[in-house]
Amino acid sequence: MTTRYRVEYALKTHRRDQLIEWIKGLLAVPFILHSQPTAVFEPRNESVEQMATAAQRRYAEIMRDVEEMVNDHINHQKSGTQDRSKLKLIVPTVANFFTPLALHDAFIWQDQRRCISRRRFVPPSFNDIRLVLNTAQVMSLVRAGPLELVTFDGDVTLYDDGQCLTPDNTAIPRILRLMQGGTKIGIVTAAGYTEARRYYERLYGLLDALHASELPTSIKQNLVVLGGESNFCFKFSGDSPDLLKWVPRKEWLLDEMLLWTEEDITELLDVAEAALRETIRNMRMEAILVRKERAVGIVPARGQKFCRETLEETVLIVQKILEMSPVGRRLPFCAFNGGNDVFVDIGDKSWGVLACQRFFGGIEGGKTLHVGDQFLSAGANDFKARLACTTAWIASPAETVQLLDEIAELEEMQQRKTR
Ligand code: IMP
Ligand code: MG
Repeated sequence: MTTRYRVEYALKTHRRDQLIEWIKGLLAVPFILHSQPTAVFEPRNESVEQMATAAQRRYAEIMRDVEEMVNDHINHQKSGTQDRSKLKLIVPTVANFFTPLALHDAFIWQDQRRCISRRRFVPPSFNDIRLVLNTAQVMSLVRAGPLELVTFDGDVTLYDDGQCLTPDNTAIPRILRLMQGGTKIGIVTAAGYTEARRYYERLYGLLDALHASELPTSIKQNLVVLGGESNFCFKFSGDSPDLLKWVPRKEWLLDEMLLWTEEDITELLDVAEAALRETIRNMRMEAILVRKERAVGIVPARGQKFCRETLEETVLIVQKILEMSPVGRRLPFCAFNGGNDVFVDIGDKSWGVLACQRFFGGIEGGKTLHVGDQFLSAGANDFKARLACTTAWIASPAETVQLLDEIAELEEMQQRKTR
């Protein structure tokens, strides 16, 4: 018999992050014990200051304990026994960590900004914890410094879905600041085009600003675009009309990627195309099928808006069919929900980030940060970047800007300390 638990699990597992859910559960206990909702109508009750202090202390202690469990997991990783760590037993989906996470200090930092401990009715939420994890990650990266490579997703991370990186984008001066400090930049996007012009049209605000900046040429060259997840590479070039120059595959492909044959690529895209066509019929979607050199997808016809459920259904069907096909076991692919379209790309962002690391001379995962918006385990394309480097999960371009400001602030603090 199918239990309710199994139904819930089957339906929701791809829409939950188990590590975040687990931490949320841990923090719910001090919230219940220390929050004072009745203070609203009982004026003589404990002051909000006292409550906030007690709650913060307990939340921070828990974050310290989780931090220790991550350290224990990292020790297991070093001896090849990560499957036996306590954290792995509790959260079976956790993968490898590239650095420790400064969770205690990050909680205090975010609490000062979000007043989590002062809340009496709303417990620590998914978003609170997501942001604490981001801060913990950048704190650890900056403390171990320098941050050598930052890769950014495009849609929703640097600009709104389907839009372009225009000159007024406030991420631009922040990316230039990172470059000035010696950090390399990769734009690792699913948007897959074979011509530099198309990427220029999407990214011109940043490319023009970099071109016009006073930065030395050696630094300006520290920007690459990896398109189609891991299929097309362009580097910044002030001499090119579109400020980007195609990089021949032999200069950036990893050895494993050389094994991807054209026959397999065509076969995988054929299987995906058939599955997408069948889903369009079945779900009565008004969709147009788009077949590209390294991708196949569906986009809405005539300005339609697909509902989330339809998009998710499509992704899960195509993914399942590909996973069960022989070619899907030979060749990495990424099926994802792009907000109002569904695409299947050859390769995925882990390969895209690895290619950037290789292009810049072999940068390590623990010195690389990928910033993206899609980190659920199915139907999301930034998720795979976790195999290649540390990550930050943002929910909007404004959050990316906030994260870059956090990095700048932490770097300044770090420099003051070492001076
Ligand atoms: P990202 O968020 O920067 O990874 O961009 C994802 C979006 O790029 C998708 O939702 C599509 O709208 C668009 N796109 C354009 N061409 C492709 C392609 O070849 N593969 C996947 N997505 C594409
Ligand atoms: Mg995105």
